[in-house]
Amino acid sequence: MIKLIKSSFHREAETKRAVAEFVLSQDVLSMSEQCRAFETAFAEKQERTYAVFVANGSVANLLLIQALLNQGRLRRGGRVGFCALTWPTNVMPLIQLGLEPVAIDCELDTLNVSPEAFDAHIAGCQALFLTNVLGFCDDLPALRRMCDDRGVLLIEDNCEALGSRTNHTLLGNFGVASTFSFFVGHHLSTIEGGMVCTDDEELYEQLVISRAHGWDRNLPPATRERLRAEARVDDFQAKYTFYDLASNFRPTEINGFIGNQQIRYWDEIVGARVANFERFQRAMAGNADVLHYDLSHMDTVSNFAMPVVCRTPELARKYRSEFEAAGVEIRPVIAGDITRQPFYRKYVQDTAERPNARLVHTNGFYFGNNPEMNEEELTTLCDLLAG
Ligand SMILES: Cc1ncc(COP(=O)(O)O)c(C=O)c1O
Repeated sequence: MIKLIKSSFHREAETKRAVAEFVLSQDVLSMSEQCRAFETAFAEKQERTYAVFVANGSVANLLLIQALLNQGRLRRGGRVGFCALTWPTNVMPLIQLGLEPVAIDCELDTLNVSPEAFDAHIAGCQALFLTNVLGFCDDLPALRRMCDDRGVLLIEDNCEALGSRTNHTLLGNFGVASTFSFFVGHHLSTIEGGMVCTDDEELYEQLVISRAHGWDRNLPPATRERLRAEARVDDFQAKYTFYDLASNFRPTEINGFIGNQQIRYWDEIVGARVANFERFQRAMAGNADVLHYDLSHMDTVSNFAMPVVCRTPELARKYRSEFEAAGVEIRPVIAGDITRQPFYRKYVQDTAERPNARLVHTNGFYFGNNPEMNEEELTTLCDLLAG
């Protein structure tokens, strides 16, 4: 069986041993020094100023939207563009927090929103919440320019694209902030975990407030003192003073410890996935049954699953059954056309067609791309992709 997820962690045995020893040796297992150290290390690797560690990628998205609402940079009822091909918890926070989601079709050669597609929807949009789908992107520099010119806030859900680069820049570094998932099977696993990255100091502080109850405990001391002075609270009341809308999105020290172990393998993990992806691309290149991607604008593609989109539903049935017969675990290409999902139909009045996302929905599937794949598995997958 070529499983979608081969292990809980990279270098699983030694990581599990280290986690066991860590747990046995620690008094404090709630968010503390390990989480802070992971944030510092992650911000450095991601080439961002600030990183806020949270319980998973879904709440990273919820927290980011809440923080932008708290700051007044998003306003309730406002329209926010997003990619119709995405994961549910990319768009659910928009609905949950009272924004109006605007689904934008993806391109078939990048599986992402292009500047041309966004241009047709940009009027009235406060923000664009892009998903960098399965490590791919469209023309991110042009999307950023469009957003800057039109006063639209660009944010990125980078939960599927850690380590991908375009224009010599890591994906996740084009918008004002970006989110990451460290769920098992993603590029870097902390079992459950997520991150929000930004270079914007005020947004960072708002994220820290909204991550934990709305209190000031994890803020830089100067900001904490300023807030306490403005609210006229003494040191005793300050312990239970709550400054803005929040929830509890904190990770644990165990997640932080695992993050610090796994981040040492970032280059190894990303490098292996990039090499696998390039092999898969070459294997598919001569196959006329499947759509081909144009990712020549990207420096590296780092994904955790490889999408295959067939030209017809009949071919999709054929390829899905061939992959399954060869023991390859497959799934739909993330949530397909999200506007066809029951939750979306329940909450959003939207009958427009997104033909490309729909095609990916009906004719697509993906299989895992992980660093532990051996030569035999890679050969099997490449033979299947060649048709
Ligand atoms: C684009 C995208 N956003 C958000 C998430 C949610 O991340 P998590 O599973 O850590 O909650 C995922 C999960 O795979 C995802 O693919």
